[in-house]
This record gives sequence, structure tokens and C-alpha cells, in this order.
Amino acid sequence: MKIKILWYLLLISIIIGCTKQPTGRSIENFNSNWYFSLENELEGIEPKPNDSAWVKLKLPHDWSIEGDFNENNPATYNGGALPGGIGWYKKTFKVKESDQQKEFYIDFDGVYMNSEVWINDHYLGKRPNGYIGFRYNLTPYLHFGEKENEIKVKVDNSQQPNSRWYSGSGIYRNVWLVKTDKLHINNWGTYVTTPIVNKDSATINIETSIINNYKGAKDVLLKTIVLFNNEKITENSNHLNIKNKNELTFSEELKINSPKLWSIENPQLYTILSEIYIDNQLVDAYKTPIGIRSFKFDLDKGFLLNNKSVKIKGVCNHHDLGALGTAINTRALERRLEILKEMGVNGIRTTHNPPAPELLDLCDKMGFIVMDESFDVWNNSKTTYDYANNWKEWHKKDLEDFIKRDRNHPSVFIWSIGNEIQEQWNEQGVETAKELKAIVTKLDTTRLITAGMNPPVNMDNQDVTLQFDKKNVNYNALAASGVLDLIGYNYAQQTYEYHKQNFPNTPFIATETTSGLQTRGYYDQKSDTLKRWPVRWDIPFTGGNPDNTISSYDQVSTPWGSTHEETWKVIKKHDYLSGMFIWTGFDYLGEPTPYVWPSRSSYFGIIDLAGFPKDVYYMYQSEWTDKPVLHVFPHWNWEVGKNVDIWAYYSQADEVELFLNNESLGVKKKEGDELHVMWRVPFQPGILKAISRKNGKDVLVKEIRTAEEASQISLNADRNIIKGDGVDLSFITVSVLDKNGTIVPNATNNIKFSIDGPGKIVGVDNGDPTSHASFKASDRNAFYGKCLVIVQSLNSEGIIKLSAQSQGLEESSINISVNNN
Ligand code: GAL
Repeated sequence: MKIKILWYLLLISIIIGCTKQPTGRSIENFNSNWYFSLENELEGIEPKPNDSAWVKLKLPHDWSIEGDFNENNPATYNGGALPGGIGWYKKTFKVKESDQQKEFYIDFDGVYMNSEVWINDHYLGKRPNGYIGFRYNLTPYLHFGEKENEIKVKVDNSQQPNSRWYSGSGIYRNVWLVKTDKLHINNWGTYVTTPIVNKDSATINIETSIINNYKGAKDVLLKTIVLFNNEKITENSNHLNIKNKNELTFSEELKINSPKLWSIENPQLYTILSEIYIDNQLVDAYKTPIGIRSFKFDLDKGFLLNNKSVKIKGVCNHHDLGALGTAINTRALERRLEILKEMGVNGIRTTHNPPAPELLDLCDKMGFIVMDESFDVWNNSKTTYDYANNWKEWHKKDLEDFIKRDRNHPSVFIWSIGNEIQEQWNEQGVETAKELKAIVTKLDTTRLITAGMNPPVNMDNQDVTLQFDKKNVNYNALAASGVLDLIGYNYAQQTYEYHKQNFPNTPFIATETTSGLQTRGYYDQKSDTLKRWPVRWDIPFTGGNPDNTISSYDQVSTPWGSTHEETWKVIKKHDYLSGMFIWTGFDYLGEPTPYVWPSRSSYFGIIDLAGFPKDVYYMYQSEWTDKPVLHVFPHWNWEVGKNVDIWAYYSQADEVELFLNNESLGVKKKEGDELHVMWRVPFQPGILKAISRKNGKDVLVKEIRTAEEASQISLNADRNIIKGDGVDLSFITVSVLDKNGTIVPNATNNIKFSIDGPGKIVGVDNGDPTSHASFKASDRNAFYGKCLVIVQSLNSEGIIKLSAQSQGLEESSINISVNNN
């Protein structure tokens, strides 16, 4: 009986399959069933089939993150001190006999770096840039039918240093197999703009590029449909004749009424569906998500989105995802953006390279203002083997592809053509900037072009008058040239208030600010001594704490930067200062300024590498969001009698009163432009209690208790239900608590994890920038009381049970449901 039913179902599906309208293209995720080998484990260069050195894996993959930290790795501590090398990937696959008339493309979203690709031993090409997406046409070299095809990819990240931060190595972004008709819309083949936007109507311009690989010319119907929530709003049809082997770009204009505008609070998206028909048969269908919004950088009012003033409260982020390395995972990125949104962040700068496409998709959906950045170097290197070596041959193609790939994203508002480019100081830089600007504006005229420049000031003397005399050593030719649409400075907040004098006709953005330095959970007394570490960027640092910690009070920054409060106080003062991008939202692997090895990751983050906010997160939250905030720190475990500074960040209240063991330590109010209040108190164990009040009424109450001995572990998942797709993640925060449930602030207990059910542990971390423990282990020491374990679903449903054990502590476990509904 069962067999009969199965036959019946099969028959129905064959009938449906035959009669179904061809939907045009198919886009297959091509991440599964790859084999990987590091070259040093192979004999010779040619990968040998069935060689035991090949490991089966699923992309995205970053092999560096699996390696050991070592001072001698050529990436150096600035690159994260993990190994590079040469890696090979291969995958076999079949294509159906019946697809002989189709075209097949392989799309790589990003491979770090110097990738070379072969199909069936035919060389398809090389792409040095590790951040750009690229496509190869496989069609002429494919075997159709039963014979296997083999794709091979060589990835060469052996020549290091080639980056100023951790790059990762491998096919670390997604790969897609795209099947189309011989006549189809090109890769990144639409360009959509909304030149007129108001409350009542919007004009949408759409350019569609269509390729015809048939032997002869074709008459086609191009249908362009505007969808909102999958409902058709309007459509337009045009008959076109497309010559053989030709690419035709067709422009049209559509109007819609009462557009739903894209904004930060309500990022509403439309979709442009482009359909192509030949003889009434649908041969291609291509979707472009878009947002309808107007914006402007005003000389006086700053950034206006849909005619409303919006201060850009942005952060810079590198592309690594902490313990996951650079292997892209959409949920990991989404979690980061959620944490930032919660803090009040509304802007992202993609330092210093094209981001994963998923980042921009998320920014479109979640409402972020993106400054999309292309390069960290042009022709002059910053590290020996960096992109400058490929500049001459590749920059035009890379920049063009970058703009084409990203120009439809509503979240993108600013193009950055470079960060702290060495050539900014001379006329050669001006010439290059002109060339890059011309490349960009040929493809998109709707965004402003900037660069993260060093300000033309002598910061060593703290002389903040901008120097535009060519004879001066601090003359910044690029800034003075007038090439940029938006003047973007990194740091030097002392100069921002001179902007209108120096650039009366060009709006301002602080492209990079702050570079504050902090270790989550660690505090130096006294908190009101300011430290600029290191003394200068080019002088080796000899100070600091012996264990490479940095105080979590907002009291330490690089000398080129500032504390968090210092810069924000300036930016918030004037509307014409459109906003800022803080260095950085999250800690990242590499660049452990001011320290060197054994540190291997940054101290710049407002949030640590594991995703745990540092205290200053709440300063921004109190300034940047509407929610009432009361954040009191540090912990309350100190030597008896020692003076301890207690800070509070608060909002939606007039004052805060602090109590120690029920005795008032006084009421404090932020005066003038202050952003926190402070009490200096000799430590006595017990309970610190803070109450914020507005008009005499309590708003929030916070208590911090002296912790006793560690006795239990708490596990807290960001999501208790995840999808059973082999990709989704649950991030579990592990805290070491005393018997009363108080976090033990200095706990370093080693915690071992075990897992049951349809999941696996894919990363552990604790945010310690000096740890050399593997992110891929199944145990981790707590760091200031906390660590993190990241669990990934397998391809099935059920309950994952994650258990945590540690000597002397009560065991603990948590269930995560894996559910595809
Ligand atoms: C900037 C640079 C960033 C990072 C930062 C550290 O000058 O643009 O990439 O190095 O300094 O403070």
C-alpha cells in the first residue's frame, strides 16, 4: 500500500514538474560536499583524488580560525597570529542532460585571497581581491548527463602580512550555482533608483541589462513588476529585440502612489521583479529588493532622511565573527546587528572592504545607514603583500564590481573610496581619487563619495587649525582637492568645530572616531585619570598593565583618538556634524593596540569578541535610545577599604541616588555636558543599590552584590528555538554564579561542554584578547565571570541538550529546540 502511494505521489510530481511554468533561473546554494586540503599536507600542487588529506566540509569555511595562535605566524599579532597558507577545495557535481541548452554560472561571494578556479581542468581565472564577489561561466566546459564535473579552487593566503587585521583564509563566503536561459538578466544586472520621492508619489527608474547567448537575435517581452509584501503595485511591459551575443540595457520609469518609505525605524522594502518572456514562455525572473527614500547631506542640518534630520550614530566593524572566524553566517551577523540596534546604533561602516552581501541585506531589512567602503590601500602598501600589489591591474574591475553589486541596497548612503590612503598627502592621491570617483559615478550618482582621511593637522602639537598650505607637512592634498562630496575625517574631534570655516561648501562626516580601549570586566582605580595608550602610533608601547588588560572605565584611548565621551560630546553639539562611525562596534581579531603578543585581538570594541557589551555600551544606550537606562559599575568584590569609583550611566531621569548596605552615598546629577556620574567609595562588602528618579519618582533600581565563592553555572541562550537547517545558531552565555545567583566577577573557572541531539558546538569564546585557547574547543575558561558557547543545528529536528561542567561547580544544562516550522 505504502509503495502504491509513493508511486502515485511520484507521478503527480512528474506531471506538475512538466506542466509547471519554467520559472526562469534557478539559484542553488553550492556550499555542500566540498573537499578541502592544505597544500602542505599534499604531495605537490595537484590535488590527488581520494587522498586522505582531503577533508569533507561545508562552506563557508575559514581554515585559519581552526589553527593555533603563534607569535611566529606571518600574519603577526596584528593579523590575529593565526596561520595562513595555501588551501585547495574541490567538488564534483552532475548537470542534467536536459539542461544542455541552459547556461551555468558559479558565483563566489568572496574568497580570501588570490583564488584560482578550474572546471574540469579548464582554468577559469584568478581573483586576488579577497573581499569581492565574482562569477565564472561554466557552460562551455561542462559535462551533461551522468559524467561528473569537478570544480577546483586554489586559495593562496601564504604571503603575509597582507592585512592590518585578521583576514581569515578560504572560501569564507557563500557559493551559488546559477542556472539560466541563454537569454537572461546579467549578474548584478539591474540598477534601480528613486529620483523623486515624496509623500504622495515616487518615481522609480530601472535599468535592466539583458544578455543574449542564442545564435540569433531574439524578440523578448520584459515585464517589470513592482511588488510590496508580494502584492503587485504596478507593472510595465516592453518588447525588445536583443541581438545575438549582445548585452542590452533597457531603461524605464515607473510611478507609484503613496510610497511606503524606507527609514531606520521602519525599513520598508519593495521588490522589483523583472521577468523576461520569449514566445510567451517565462525564461528569466530576477528580483531586486529596493527601498524608497530620499536623503541629503545638508551643510547646516547634517544628514536628512526623508526630510527628517537624523544623526548618524555609527560604528565601524571588520568582517570576522569572533570564534567563527570570517566564515559568514547570517544569524551571527544578525545577532551583532541586534546588539548594536539595542545600543542605539543606526549606522555601519564596512571597514575597510566590501562586506558580505548578507550584511547589506540585513542592513536593508533592519534599518541601518551604511557607509560602504572599498579599499584600505591604493597603489602604496601598508603591509608587504597587501592589495597595493594588485592595484594597477585590478582596482578598476574591483571597484566597478563593488558598486554594481551594492548600488541597489537602500541602506547604502555613502561610498568610501578608501581608508587613510597613503597617497592622500600628495597630488598622486588626488589623481587617483578623481579616477575612482569617475568609476563610481559612471555606475551610481545617487550616493555621496568620501574617504576616511587623516585630518590635515599637527596632532602632536594638538594644533587643530587645518593646514592647507602646500608647504606644510600636514597638508592633505585629497582633503583640499574638492574631489570628495563629503569630507570624512578619521579622529581629531578637536577639528570638527572648524569644519564650516574650512569647508564652507562640503558637508561633514566623522568617518572614524574614538579608538577607546577596554577589557570587559576589568577596572583600574582611579577612573578619572585619562590614559592615552600608546604614546604615539609609531613608538613601541612600554606601559600598560602586566597582564595586558585595559580599564573598562571610559578612561583609556589611543592618542589619535579619544574617550567615547570626548568625541560624542562634540558630535552631538552641532547639527552640521552629520554623525560618526566609532572604531569599533565589536572587538575583532588582530590589531591589539596598544599591546603586542601575547595579545591577539583588539580592545577597541564597545562589545567584546564574544558579543558581551562593555560598560560604555550603556553610555551610548543612554544617549542614543529612548529607553530608560541605569547602568552601574564596576562589580562589588574588592579589597576592604580600597577606594572604588562607582559610575552610573542613566537616562530618562533627573538624578541617581546610591546606597551601600542601605546607607545613602548621596544623590548625583549629570551637570553641563556630563554623560555619567561618579561616587568614590571605600569598599565594604554588601549590596550597592542605585535608584534613578524623575520628578521625585523612582524610574529604575539596580543592585550589585558582593559575590561569594563560585558554586553554579548559568546558561542563557539568545534563542531557544532554532531552525534545523545545519546553519542556524544559538549563542549561549555562560556565567559563573555564587550560591545566591550573583555573578562571580573575577571567575576564571574552566567549563567543559557536552552536547546531545541534533546540534554541534561550533565555537567557544570569552572575550579575552590574550587567550590562545582554540575557538574550536569544547571547553573554555570564564573571563571575568563569563564565556560563550555557540551551537549550530544539524539538518534535522529535535532537542539539543547542552551541558556545562566545571570542577567544584554544580552542573548545568539547557535545551534548544530545533524546529523547521
Ligand atoms: C585607524 C585605522 C583603522 C584602525 C584604527 C585603530 O587609523 O583606519 O583601521 O587601525 O586606526 O585605532
